[in-house]
Amino acid sequence: MQNPFVYGEVVPLSAFADRVAELDRLVADLAAGQKIFLISPRRYGKSSLVRRALAAMAKQGALTVEVTVSSYSSYVAFLEGYARAIVSAETRWDRARTWLREVIRSARAEVHYSPDASPLGSISVSFPNVRSERDQSRLAQEVFALPSRLAEARRRKVVVALDEFQGIAGFDGGSVEHALRAAVQHQREVGYIFAGSEPSLMERMLGPKRPFYKAGPVIRLDKIPADEFSAFIDARFARSGIRSESGLGAAIVELAGNLPYDVQRLAHETWDEVRADGRRRATLDDLHLALRRLLTEQQMMFEALWQRLKAAQRGVLRAVVLEEGRGLLSVEVRERHRLGGASTVQYALGALVRDDLIGREGDRYVVVDSLLREWVARRTF
Ligand SMILES: Nc1ncnc2c1ncn2[C@@H]1O[C@H](COP(=O)(O)OP(=O)(O)OP(=O)(O)O)[C@@H](O)[C@H]1O
Ligand SMILES: [Mg+2]
Repeated sequence: MQNPFVYGEVVPLSAFADRVAELDRLVADLAAGQKIFLISPRRYGKSSLVRRALAAMAKQGALTVEVTVSSYSSYVAFLEGYARAIVSAETRWDRARTWLREVIRSARAEVHYSPDASPLGSISVSFPNVRSERDQSRLAQEVFALPSRLAEARRRKVVVALDEFQGIAGFDGGSVEHALRAAVQHQREVGYIFAGSEPSLMERMLGPKRPFYKAGPVIRLDKIPADEFSAFIDARFARSGIRSESGLGAAIVELAGNLPYDVQRLAHETWDEVRADGRRRATLDDLHLALRRLLTEQQMMFEALWQRLKAAQRGVLRAVVLEEGRGLLSVEVRERHRLGGASTVQYALGALVRDDLIGREGDRYVVVDSLLREWVARRTF
């Protein structure tokens, strides 16, 4: 029996919950060649949703390309990775090399192919003589034109997903945005998804003075509705041959703050707890055992994190946990937790938000990682 819950990677189809409306919308927009922005905080499920949308488009006959922008250490490395991803969508290797060399004229493109286990073998692309900024921007123009070239060569729709798109800000921001926007707006046969997980950065990128202003629809991904997610969890337990005590799914979703990653992590570890004992029924006690085990495993990491925080931030983080994120600036809460002046609290909140430790949800602050929340509640004073 395999654990039916998956976390820390793009979820396979069988572990994918809900997102029906979002998926429909994405697929319709992509089919229309739109340039879509998909924004959410970390671990909400963007990459998983993108993967599903690409699979749906591939089924309709489109060629799909996926690149994780933030994994490249430099602009040129990104251009190489992007070119490589596009060339890999061409099934005939010799043809791919020919049209790549036709389009990339400003730089020498070195294309290597090594047959390996995968059906197409593996391809690498490098631009060894690109040095100055001017070389880079000329090359970028040509690389960003590749998707439409692929669409033409194969006479198919093309869909490009650039995940962790906020990462382009790290490659001298402004000019990259310009070049990419200029290229994509003419590519009517190519749909794009720009997915980003730093909402404030992404929203700024869509502001009125920036190249991507009004470039296309914006989808802000929310959490999965709690009742649907809990029903899904209970059903997955049942399908794997382990019956869950009534209310277990709901308790997992609640404890996880309904963050998709945390929900799957708690469910996965609870399932393991039950399975290790060879039992066929999962209870709330199992959930708590799993939680305790996870807290122990993460102890060192949380301690290190706690040490790194300034004293004021520690106090405010504790107050966010104990007050469930409400009324932090009020005199009462500040006195109860000895937080000091309102401006100090405000400042510490800002720092914790920037560090991705807490986030805003409606009228309150929440600790992003539910394990950290529990750890702060139980192990700090
Ligand atoms: N639709 C879903 N159904 C069930 N679980 C999900 C779903 N989407 C995401 N998850 C859970 O959340 C985890 C993170 O998903 P994913 O990597 O897609 O999110 P992300 O927003 O791309 O995160 P990051 O910002 O860290 O890249 C998955 O490993 C899975 O456990
Ligand atoms: Mg992701």
